[in-house]
Amino acid sequence: MYHESVLVSQSIEGLDLKEDGIYVDATFGGGGHSKSILQQLGDKGHLYAFDQDADAKRNAGAWEHFTFIASNFRYLKRWMRYYGVDRLDGVLADLGVSSHQFDVPERGFSYRFNELLDMRMNQQQGKTAGDFINELSEGEIRQILYDYSDVPNARKLAREIASARQSGEIRTTADLVSVLDHCIVGSRMKYLSQVFQAFRIAVNDEMGALRDFIRDAFDLLAPGGRMVVLSYHSMEDRLVKHFFKSGNFEGRQIKDEYGNIYRPMRLITKKPIVPSEEEVKRNVRARSAKLRIAEKKKD
Ligand SMILES: C[S@@+](CC[C@H](N)C(=O)[O-])C[C@H]1O[C@@H](n2cnc3c(N)ncnc32)[C@H](O)[C@@H]1O
Repeated sequence: MYHESVLVSQSIEGLDLKEDGIYVDATFGGGGHSKSILQQLGDKGHLYAFDQDADAKRNAGAWEHFTFIASNFRYLKRWMRYYGVDRLDGVLADLGVSSHQFDVPERGFSYRFNELLDMRMNQQQGKTAGDFINELSEGEIRQILYDYSDVPNARKLAREIASARQSGEIRTTADLVSVLDHCIVGSRMKYLSQVFQAFRIAVNDEMGALRDFIRDAFDLLAPGGRMVVLSYHSMEDRLVKHFFKSGNFEGRQIKDEYGNIYRPMRLITKKPIVPSEEEVKRNVRARSAKLRIAEKKKD
């Protein structure tokens, strides 16, 4: 199976779909969320779905009221301009990677297989994880580990990586794992997952893309339009939470001249929705999911 979709009914409910609405699924993947949206759209409705991974396109059919866009969702505005869309009724983003990306060894996302360290979601462009690990300075590697993983010994690990590559490039997942094995603190699986995830986030500039997407999506949303975001990393969730609450990614409170606090969105979820135990039992990759929903205010 390409990917088992997470929190589907809750996300679709969150979009508060209108039959003739125009929607964006920013992360098509296996198409699970998209198919549920399409079931509720009428003749005048339309769904634009993005995925930057060429493999995802194969999951899209020749469906009516549907356009697949093989691109990074950070270019949402440009694509909507291209298609002549200036208002959206809702956007959904189910962030991170699909199970397919993890499960295909050659993609280099997983420490479970020995393959080249690639980790690019879009294999047509950009530097691979191998390039990052061999070319960045020790300080830059340390920063990636600090920012995107919770490993308690980021400084030591960055030093080990920098020293290991002096005696030969770190090109494969096994090369990297053999360095990590000297540094593991706590559960090996958790440690390896966190470090691999940190490099994946950096390689794909996932936080930068998310910021661009949220800003564009907000601008394009019609008043009353919904933004639905499923995140799997605390930093992603924080960006979403802050933006929904205050219209910026730092969570800064902005007041007008009368002291009124600027709140551009109405929170539909005050606290994130998380999967039930039953869903996590069925689909372990759902375990870290957090779903937040907000509506663009009407005035
Ligand atoms: C968790 S999966 C989505 C699964 C999908 N909701 C489903 O039901 O099958 C995330 C997908 O988003 C894509 N993706 C992640 N970041 C992206 C970005 N910045 N631009 C476009 N696609 C992205 C990945 O390639 C992956 O296929």
